[in-house]
Amino acid sequence: MRKKIAAGNWKMNTTLQEGMQLASEVVNMASDEVKSEVQVILIPPFPHLTSINKLVESKNGIYVGAQNCHQEASGAFTGEVSAEILASSGIDFVVIGHSERREYFSESGDLLAAKTNAVLKNRMTPIFCCGEKLEVREQNGHFDLVGTQIKEGLFHLTAAELSKVVIAYEPVWAIGTGVTASTDQAQEMHAHIRQVLAENYDQDLADGISILYGGSVKPDNSRELFACPDVDGGLVGGASLKSRDFVDIAKSFQ
Ligand code: PGA
Repeated sequence: MRKKIAAGNWKMNTTLQEGMQLASEVVNMASDEVKSEVQVILIPPFPHLTSINKLVESKNGIYVGAQNCHQEASGAFTGEVSAEILASSGIDFVVIGHSERREYFSESGDLLAAKTNAVLKNRMTPIFCCGEKLEVREQNGHFDLVGTQIKEGLFHLTAAELSKVVIAYEPVWAIGTGVTASTDQAQEMHAHIRQVLAENYDQDLADGISILYGGSVKPDNSRELFACPDVDGGLVGGASLKSRDFVDIAKSFQ
């Protein structure tokens, strides 16, 4: 059975005080309201991680993730945070290859493969992001591009390693724009990703991997998105900054 996941990517938002407030609201509501089989993941800025991790520690089904990590274990990389450091702080998930990192920090397929390795080596779960820009979709190149992003970032892994990865499909044109992919667009891409996994590994492995949709997920569209057979949850940006909206999204699995 694939895991159902509602992950909130806070990006570069919230002071520590605001973040603690948001996290405690989510924890309180989610503990009462969200089904136990749904994994709720809070992904705040780095400085908040240990405090928020303490807050959620004893709560079943609520986890903390980081937005990025460096590929090396340690060393002279001023300003960076390694997967080893995150693991030592009790973090369970790390987002890898968000489109904002690909775009603004020039993260390449090779680099993302190395970061994925670092996360897995430290026994955390990578949430590996992929997704096309609007011009690529307009030229009908989105299936090929997403297939290539996944191959570059993940297909050096063994089947056992890959089975530990969560994939997030986030069309760049839907991120922060208020424009959401239609359920048909989301479903067909998620099915495509699963097919690429099956072709390169096997069907069982493909069937076991959670694939999240990201891009303007809100309480009023999450229910129909999560009802798609190949959509296993959401990576939520803007709406994860409002506790009520995020918990409502986490409640919208059938
Ligand atoms: P959004 O962001 O929900 O604000 O569109 C999604 C993301 O970037 O993960």
